[in-house]
Amino acid sequence: MSYKSLPKVELHLHLEGGAPPAFIRNLAQEKHIDISGIFDERGNYLYRDFDHFLKVYEAACTTLTGPEEFRRLTLAVLEQSAENGVVYSETFLSPDFCGGGDVQAWRDYLAAIEDAAAEAERTMGITLKGIITCIRHFGPEQAKTAALCAAETKGDFITGFGMAGAELVGRPGDYAYSFDMAREAGLRITCHAGEWGDAAMVADTLRDLSPERIGHGINAIQDLALVDRIAEAGVVLEVCPGSNVFLGAVPSWKEHPIARLQERGVKVTVSTDDPPFFNTTMAREFDMLAETFGWEEEQLRMLNDVALEAAFCDEATKERIARRLLA
Ligand code: ADE
Ligand code: ZN
Repeated sequence: MSYKSLPKVELHLHLEGGAPPAFIRNLAQEKHIDISGIFDERGNYLYRDFDHFLKVYEAACTTLTGPEEFRRLTLAVLEQSAENGVVYSETFLSPDFCGGGDVQAWRDYLAAIEDAAAEAERTMGITLKGIITCIRHFGPEQAKTAALCAAETKGDFITGFGMAGAELVGRPGDYAYSFDMAREAGLRITCHAGEWGDAAMVADTLRDLSPERIGHGINAIQDLALVDRIAEAGVVLEVCPGSNVFLGAVPSWKEHPIARLQERGVKVTVSTDDPPFFNTTMAREFDMLAETFGWEEEQLRMLNDVALEAAFCDEATKERIARRLLA
């Protein structure tokens, strides 16, 4: 039994991280860029651990040299998502990889991404919104340029701001200026925390950056009082179990805390993070939840409902997507 055709909502997908390896290899060939070292003999991405994953990710991004490459990337990623039943997706976009944080360059990249999103909506029936992320290990100063790009381009498509990258670099409060700028511009806030950092990192992120959603957040399970506070506050976790198991943040699907977090009252959602890097899809995530925890269709549909409620889009879009989830 596979849930491939079940309609799905995904909140946590890095656009560059969704690039199929063949797509990146083709671009590298076109542009004579040698990144052969980032692939294994079967053509999949190859890396040792999370830090190395970030390096391989950034090497793959060197082939994405302009707006046209991002237009093609967006279509390639959305094709994969739509094939796996996704009807609504929010993707992380990093101006650092799109013109180096320059606002005018970012506008050109964004126009191409939005153009592709509109095409995908017409041809594949999938709706996309964008969340701008700063990259934590690039430091607080560079984060400000990402926040400025976010503030300048907030609108119907760019609806949120967040932070990805190496979680153990710096402290959440170092990035408060950028998050405040984004919030003041009217953007909704999410932030990666508790993927590699401990429960205290999640608590500090909540205290210093006040996100309404947390990317991963799974290590909150180390502190049940914190879990209760997250549940009470209605903060939503963007959980990516396949990513956590593949990267070794959690030893196995069986030991993944998603079910325990949900049982304790936390609003959990499910996403792929960087699907081709972790050999996953939204269909596989749903299938593995069913297989591992015995979740039935009703529980899987509930994940969609929680995700749609927590989505950063406008109400009219939510109503339209809600009707599609009934299929
Ligand atoms: N960027 C892409 N994938 C990521 C992850 N799993 N954690 C932090 N930053 C990321
Ligand atoms: Zn992520």
